[in-house]
Amino acid sequence: MKILIIGAGGTIGKKVTAALKAHEVITVGRNTGDIMADISSPTAMESLFKQVSDIDAIICTAGDSVTGPLPEMNKAQFMVGIEQKLWPQINLVLSGMKYLKDNGSITLISGKMGELPAKGSSGKAFVNGAINSFVMAAAQEMPRGIRLNAISPSKVSDTGGDELIAAYVRCLETAINGEIIRVGYYKQ
Ligand SMILES: NC(=O)c1ccc[n+]([C@@H]2O[C@H](COP(=O)([O-])OP(=O)(O)OC[C@H]3O[C@@H](n4cnc5c(N)ncnc54)[C@H](OP(=O)(O)O)[C@@H]3O)[C@@H](O)[C@H]2O)c1
Repeated sequence: MKILIIGAGGTIGKKVTAALKAHEVITVGRNTGDIMADISSPTAMESLFKQVSDIDAIICTAGDSVTGPLPEMNKAQFMVGIEQKLWPQINLVLSGMKYLKDNGSITLISGKMGELPAKGSSGKAFVNGAINSFVMAAAQEMPRGIRLNAISPSKVSDTGGDELIAAYVRCLETAINGEIIRVGYYKQ
């Protein structure tokens, strides 16, 4: 499989990239990777997909958001999550659905705080919830058999790694569509 991994240089991205090395993997980041592209930019997105062809799957492990006590949160901090995690992944789907091969797969990233939030996580939680909702809705309209799912991990140190990788493999290799795969939610 030819797989584009956005955010491959990050904590989760490194684990996923290493686990999928039997495939042909193309890594992407703003400042690192085989191709450098900022997925929040529609122009950069189109330019990225013109540099690659015959992609079977896209995995996104990129996206920033801001956390902090609710009384100290302001618009700029909430907007980071929208502009750096939610919109870039929607942008990736909008472009990716045009360039992926038939029956391809797109896997986004959300996070446990979207469903089981802790205090101080509102800036992260609302973005994760929005990504999950986007995936469930948009998956119904993906063209040419392309599937769209999200991985919602707990802290990666909590999840070990095997469950996380199994979740990505499930998105790549099975027929699931519109699923939010929860990883490591209830570990002690
Ligand atoms: N780590 C965890 O325990 C955990 C748990 C639950 C959820 N998550 C979520 O998983 C995602 C990844 O977490 P992480 O800890 O792996 O993050 P990370 O270590 O900061 O890595 C993020 C990677 O994404 C790339 N990136 C960021 N914005 C980008 C953009 N606009 N365009 C292209 N590449 C971009 C970065 O590379 P450049 O700097 O080169 O752009 C970096 O390699 C986050 O959304 C996080 O909320 C993480």
